[in-house]
Amino acid sequence: RSHKRVVDCRSDIDRMNAPLLAIYESLVPKEEEKSNQKQLLTSLEKLVNKEWPTAQLYLYGSCANSFGVSKSDIDVCLALEDPDINKSEVLLKLADILQADNLENVQALTRARVPIVKLMDPVTGISCDICINNVLAVVNTKLLHDYAQIDDRLRQLAFIVKHWAKLRGVNVTYQGTLSSYAYVLMCIHFLQQRKPAILPCLQGMEATYVVTVDDIECAYFDQVQHLRDFGARNKERIAELVWAFFDYWAYRHDYANSVISVRTGSLISKRAKDWTRRIGNDRHLICIEDPFEISHDLGRVVDKYSIKTLREEFERAANIMHYDPDPCVTLFEPY
Ligand code: CTP
Ligand code: MG
Repeated sequence: RSHKRVVDCRSDIDRMNAPLLAIYESLVPKEEEKSNQKQLLTSLEKLVNKEWPTAQLYLYGSCANSFGVSKSDIDVCLALEDPDINKSEVLLKLADILQADNLENVQALTRARVPIVKLMDPVTGISCDICINNVLAVVNTKLLHDYAQIDDRLRQLAFIVKHWAKLRGVNVTYQGTLSSYAYVLMCIHFLQQRKPAILPCLQGMEATYVVTVDDIECAYFDQVQHLRDFGARNKERIAELVWAFFDYWAYRHDYANSVISVRTGSLISKRAKDWTRRIGNDRHLICIEDPFEISHDLGRVVDKYSIKTLREEFERAANIMHYDPDPCVTLFEPY
């Protein structure tokens, strides 16, 4: 009997694999979109350099980490050498410059947690957020990008998970659910702990890339072209992985005691990090260690209500993958 169930599961997975891959393919941005983004970045660079000749602009976030779906906004970091700048002043000045150049909806948000200028480019229709000297975000963007080069299944899984999270309303940090960045880290962690592992732990290997940012040493193995075979012994396909991912977060993760840590490639205990109780606004109800800012729990936005929503959504998704005859429709039904 159990043999028959295994056989049934196999054919279910065979059936789900192609539709899931098709969803992934439909989300991948087209070449034209990428070249529009580059074009916008180049014109922003010209504007910025008139005022700050040595400043550099970097793309970060989903437009640069390879986890960006089609029609995403772009995230830009303005890196200024002078350490004594007043960020608010710079942002207001920047907003004036952009406004004068006919960019639309220009808005300086100087009081946000990460202060930014928002704008929309009427030529390409691309919206853009510019922050200042957020170099750690540029470095963690490179880390995610490098992980994505190792095994195609990471990008497939993360696109599907992000798509699911957006449609189900659990990708809204100000409502206490998780950022896209947190979901991608959950995917990397999940593929690191798979048996056999699909992803290595780059920060646990010999460092070939080392930078120090805000007193934090960021070091890891970035020669990922040598790791293209790393996950080859694991034959799981995307349908199995999506299923197992939701099952993991619904039923297997120990929320009370464990912290997921891409940095170490494993779980670490909440006790070891002193994340066992609420401190200020950090409740540590789901713990996701930032790979470089290791005192930073990306789950800190989650409160006692939203943790329930989140776990119910994981359970719903796991059950759909398990029992639903047409999971690719039900899974992504808007909330
Ligand atoms: N970031 C960070 N710490 C956080 C949240 C975000 O360092 N707590 C940085 C990361 O570099 C991340 C970027 O900000 O890649 C953008 O974050 P987010 O908007 O969550 O992710 P995107 O990848 O841009 O996703 P989306 O496609 O939803 O815009
Ligand atoms: Mg973004």
